[in-house]
Amino acid sequence: MINKYLNKIISGDCLEVLENIPDNSVDVTFADPPFNLKKKYNSYYDEHEVGEYLSWCSDWLKEMVRITKPTGSIFVHNIPKWLVYFGSSLNESALFRHWIAWDAMGSPLGRTLLPNHYGILYYVKSENYKFFDIRMSHKRCRKCGYILQDYGGKKAQMHPFGPLVSDVWTDIHRIRHKKRRDEHPCQLPIHLLERLLLMSTEEGDIVLDPFIGTGTTAVAAKNLGRNFIGIDIDPKYVDITERKLEASNPTKINGCYVSIFLDNVKTIRDKDWDKIKEAFVISQDPLELERNEIYLSHKYSGTTRIEIVKGRQQNLCLVCEGEA
Ligand SMILES: C[S@@+](CC[C@H](N)C(=O)[O-])C[C@H]1O[C@@H](n2cnc3c(N)ncnc32)[C@H](O)[C@@H]1O
Repeated sequence: MINKYLNKIISGDCLEVLENIPDNSVDVTFADPPFNLKKKYNSYYDEHEVGEYLSWCSDWLKEMVRITKPTGSIFVHNIPKWLVYFGSSLNESALFRHWIAWDAMGSPLGRTLLPNHYGILYYVKSENYKFFDIRMSHKRCRKCGYILQDYGGKKAQMHPFGPLVSDVWTDIHRIRHKKRRDEHPCQLPIHLLERLLLMSTEEGDIVLDPFIGTGTTAVAAKNLGRNFIGIDIDPKYVDITERKLEASNPTKINGCYVSIFLDNVKTIRDKDWDKIKEAFVISQDPLELERNEIYLSHKYSGTTRIEIVKGRQQNLCLVCEGEA
């Protein structure tokens, strides 16, 4: 029954589509609904009376919980003002796990205490939910390259790739450059979604987003070898999503899915590190590690085949090390 929706982007009202999705059939539901902030969408009108907006939100939140598997996770992205209401609605039928604070590095001007972080509510349906430890690359000074976190006397214990991710995310920026944006007022970065999916799903799992916009969740799912179902009320956004999906391919290093942004590996699974590390040049000296980033080697080393797949497979010639 769920199979007929797999890897499709559906143009329509999410409540009408969701009611046909079977109970307990999806591994992860992620929603980034309109914020009711008068944003200029192509066709959707983003200004509703508060009670009307919240009652609509409570309807699709209930649907998200219903269709999520008992081992699955439910994520909702929004501003704190609305998330506090969403939390009280979700508390009735799901279990709170985390409030992820995403500091998207904005610079709001004009008043004190203007909102400068988004929240991602993280709920599950049972204690038996899928979860994988993930690591982010070290944050470094853009000028001198030094690691920004002070490890004090514990430098020797520093992980070469980077720390385990906490519930405060400060290393993922909102998309600012016009050339990286679609014609959409609030497109999320793909590596934000990849981080959530590496943490909560496995290859082949099903991810559903009822407000797909220009396809961020679907592209992230495809990059990581997961199945997706996307819904948007605006056919123009559905078209853009479909075009982007055609151009995206699994992103793997040495057989492990990773999240890459601008040729840098941003997030990995902790358990994959032993395989992934073969693809990096890593100094054994903690002081050197503190000073200089580890970097990907595109070469064969000894008998180990370093396979870097970003969009397409790269086969390197053993003699000249050029692309074969
Ligand atoms: C905040 S945006 C999502 C952006 C998306 N996360 C991305 O990265 O592109 C909200 C989306 O919800 C869509 N939308 C609004 N009402 C809807 C409804 N009733 N059913 C489905 N989609 C809807 C809008 O067209 C808009 O694209």
